[in-house]
Amino acid sequence: MLIPPPLSLYVHLPWCVRKCPYCDFNSHAAKGALPFEEYVDALVRDLDHDLPLVWGRVVNSVFFGGGTPSLFPPEAIDRFLQAASARLRFAPGLEITLETNPGTAEHGRFDRYLAAGVNRLSFGIQSFDDAALQRLGRIHDSAEAERAVKLAQDAGYDNINLDLMYALPQQTLAQAEDDLLRAFALEPTHVSHYQLTLEPNTVFYARPPKGIPDDDSAWDMQEHCQRLLAEAGYAQYEVSAYARPDRQCAHNLNYWRFGDYLGIGAGAHGKITSGAAQHVLRRWKHKHPQTYMAQAGGEAAIGGDEIVPAERLPFEYMLNLLRLHEGFSVADFSARTGLAADALAAPLAQATQRGWLEETDAGRWRPTELGRRFTNDVIELFLD
Ligand SMILES: C[S@@+](CC[C@H](N)C(=O)[O-])C[C@H]1O[C@@H](n2cnc3c(N)ncnc32)[C@H](O)[C@@H]1O
Ligand code: SF4
Repeated sequence: MLIPPPLSLYVHLPWCVRKCPYCDFNSHAAKGALPFEEYVDALVRDLDHDLPLVWGRVVNSVFFGGGTPSLFPPEAIDRFLQAASARLRFAPGLEITLETNPGTAEHGRFDRYLAAGVNRLSFGIQSFDDAALQRLGRIHDSAEAERAVKLAQDAGYDNINLDLMYALPQQTLAQAEDDLLRAFALEPTHVSHYQLTLEPNTVFYARPPKGIPDDDSAWDMQEHCQRLLAEAGYAQYEVSAYARPDRQCAHNLNYWRFGDYLGIGAGAHGKITSGAAQHVLRRWKHKHPQTYMAQAGGEAAIGGDEIVPAERLPFEYMLNLLRLHEGFSVADFSARTGLAADALAAPLAQATQRGWLEETDAGRWRPTELGRRFTNDVIELFLD
């Protein structure tokens, strides 16, 4: 029996000051003035169109992702949140995150995001090394990044994530360590620590920069940084996510736990479980901002709808759950996929035999240290 899990709201804001050469997100360099008001109108029409998918359900978190959501003035974010809270049931005190590029921070702006209801900021820092930031094509330097985080803290933000990347072109282990130490000095509650990947359809993929650390060096950096993060009180709870106690990102946790999310905005993806229809629907929106704005609110804005075939659900479930250190329970698997525990018997036996997964309590499984090293291989065992 499929039981609808907790629900989140994801809102995609697709513009950036300029496109970073490593980035494959749906982000577009801003040319001239951006149509903030028109885009918020489109978001509200899009939300109205999708409301029947989630009638009566409580929304437990909101995440403004990008792109660079901090390009949007606080008044536009406020207007969207007011419209959304009039249409959806927001859980009291729900987490509302806004992704922020330090190069867009202005004095006085953070107070107004806070007043609009945004209670968590996620800063795209990447590195505190100015030469590295230049090689990454970033629009800010390290001093601006530190200033932006302090401005947010002065405005009253006490729940802040810093995104860092490692295995950067020409980066040494000592430099990766230095990035973390400078991050710790700012006392964030959460750190996301991503290995730079060369994604197809990016400038870095077409013309890889010189000096990308090889796999062994990247692994050494990861292990060393994991230790530093643990010593500084940031517990790893997912492949790239580390948090102070009780400061895990509620929105991303729901996503990795195979929770539901409504995806609003250009290129946004959603996943919604229907208890009545006993299926999981994936829906995505048109990627291009202008096309999206012209069509939002109608069927034409929907890039695609797919009912996930039952035989693919174990793989999709594990793709998310096995990223988490907490692992999963077989009862939760059944509630979120509608499948009986038998569907897992063979792959679980194989994963145990290879030392990749361990049963902690009756019916509760989590990846071992070896399993975490081979996350992709473990997940593949659950392919139909
Ligand atoms: C959508 S961006 C949001 C933040 C904001 N746009 C910015 O960059 O300042 C989310 C994060 O993904 C990470 N990221 C983007 N491209 C990546 C890549 N190719 N490899 C690893 N991490 C990447 C960066 O750390 C980035 O901050
Ligand atoms: S600012 Fe962020 S979303 Fe925009 S291009 Fe750079 S990494 Fe991508």
